[in-house]
Amino acid sequence: MKLFIDSGNLHEIESLVPLGIIDGITTNPSLLAKEGGDARAIVKRICEVVKGPVSAEVVATESGAMIAEGRELAKIDDHVVVKIPFTREGIKAIKALSGEGIRINTTLIFSATQALFAAKAGAAYVSPFVGRLDDIASDGMLLIEQIVEIFDHYEFGTEVLVASVRSPMHIVTAARMGADICTCPAKVIDACFNHPLTDIGLEKFLKDWEQAKRGK
Ligand code: E4P
Repeated sequence: MKLFIDSGNLHEIESLVPLGIIDGITTNPSLLAKEGGDARAIVKRICEVVKGPVSAEVVATESGAMIAEGRELAKIDDHVVVKIPFTREGIKAIKALSGEGIRINTTLIFSATQALFAAKAGAAYVSPFVGRLDDIASDGMLLIEQIVEIFDHYEFGTEVLVASVRSPMHIVTAARMGADICTCPAKVIDACFNHPLTDIGLEKFLKDWEQAKRGK
């Protein structure tokens, strides 16, 4: 399973990329707005740091304007994937832009039919938001299970990108279900590095090593 960082923050991205296990980045208008400054310049800089897909989202809502904005976003860098929300207008834009060879990440997916329609329109990725479903006492990971099962029956070539991830357990479940990608906030990736038994174990290994060297 590929691992993306869900962030528009260069500091976070630059601190995690050297791990060598980051395959791409997702941003959204809220994340980029939080950073301030020129959003397109930030996306360009992210593309220079991460040699993988970098999702940048349109803010237009009418298909013609989405298509025009999507073309502009795609020009920022070869790594840019244009993110388009799942709406009636969005699906038309997905069909048109995919036909031009622009890779699309369909965002704000909350049902299996939305994922199916986006795949039929030619999207390269669908992003089901699991955390936001959990937030309303629905089951985000059940949606992933459904989409993975549906996509397994066909040959769309659309990847399931698990989004709105809130905890390491979302990553575990996504991998068990065979999702293609999980995009995670930096703090969720950081949390995967915390295990008290690893810390205790390492401390003991190093202590034993030092004692042996001192001949005790
Ligand atoms: C994904 O592409 C979205 O940017 C993101 O995962 C949304 O997460 P949130 O529900 O925590 O805002």
